[in-house]
Amino acid sequence: MKILVTGINGQVGWELNRQAAKGARQIIGLDRVALDITDHQAVGHAVACHRPDLLINCAAYTAVDRAEEEEELAQAVNGDGPARLAEACRPRHIPLIHLSTDYVFDGTGVRPYLESDAVAPLGVYGRSKERGERRLREVLPEHVILRTSWVYGVHGHNFVKTMLRLARQHRQLKVVADQWGCPTAAADLAGVLLTLADRIAAGTCHWGTYHCCGATVTTWHGFAEQLFALCQGRIPLKVEQVLAIASADYPTPAKRPAYSVLDCGKLAGRLQITMPPLVESLAAVVDELAVQQEDGGL
Ligand SMILES: NC(=O)c1ccc[n+]([C@@H]2O[C@H](COP(=O)([O-])OP(=O)(O)OC[C@H]3O[C@@H](n4cnc5c(N)ncnc54)[C@H](OP(=O)(O)O)[C@@H]3O)[C@@H](O)[C@H]2O)c1
Repeated sequence: MKILVTGINGQVGWELNRQAAKGARQIIGLDRVALDITDHQAVGHAVACHRPDLLINCAAYTAVDRAEEEEELAQAVNGDGPARLAEACRPRHIPLIHLSTDYVFDGTGVRPYLESDAVAPLGVYGRSKERGERRLREVLPEHVILRTSWVYGVHGHNFVKTMLRLARQHRQLKVVADQWGCPTAAADLAGVLLTLADRIAAGTCHWGTYHCCGATVTTWHGFAEQLFALCQGRIPLKVEQVLAIASADYPTPAKRPAYSVLDCGKLAGRLQITMPPLVESLAAVVDELAVQQEDGGL
């Protein structure tokens, strides 16, 4: 199966490329320079030229705070990009897997969000991703949208990398403890994308929107504590105390949902796909970062 992947240099794209290299699938990975998904002509050309069996969109504008000042760009990438890709796929009957976010919800829920729950994004990033989902559904029925959350991994920028950098510099850290969500390892997500690719190849995939996130519900503070516990004896850190603070004490340009836990029951029920708990996936990332550190790369 030939799979065209956009955003190959992002957290998820990079993991997808590395995992696919171990299997029989042929990945054509394009970074932003090779394919800018806001460029209509370039998208058409890439799809016509590579003639993939499947397209996976890992490209996105993910700077949640900066998006508040760059709405036009965020909308061009996240709001219009998926439909632009879908338009190129439609005449050639190429299915598209797209990634979306828990930030399409406003976070006022009191139980894990279902795919059928009403969306109400709080900021520009969430609005742009919601529009991207909606326009993709209008253009191409043969799609899977995976909504995920709190993505981390060994490659790229993420909460884990930021916490480790700060924990090497400071004895005390303050981390938000009133936002609830599910951290998701980019490697686990890449595994799901490849499983879906296999299902599509076998003709056994069910199109639609699915929630797909790590199996552990926590706060950013809980996530940091779990990280530092796993680092003990592996990655030397200066941090001694991790204080729990409220979002109000750490103001950011973009408002984030207080509770964005996703219910992944549909993914388990219809596609028999489940995700691992945080401690398992985070331990794998810490292992890899520890090796990088021993090699002097961290
Ligand atoms: N990160 C999270 O916590 C999170 C949470 C929920 C959902 N998601 C969703 O999961 C997906 C993957 O996220 P990620 O964490 O892997 O993101 P990421 O690490 O920020 O990667 C996104 C990639 O897209 C590229 N890109 C940006 N604009 C582009 C354009 N116009 N054309 C082509 N490529 C472009 C970026 O390239 P440059 O680096 O060159 O800009 C980057 O390599 C996204 O759809 C995101 O919305 C992420």
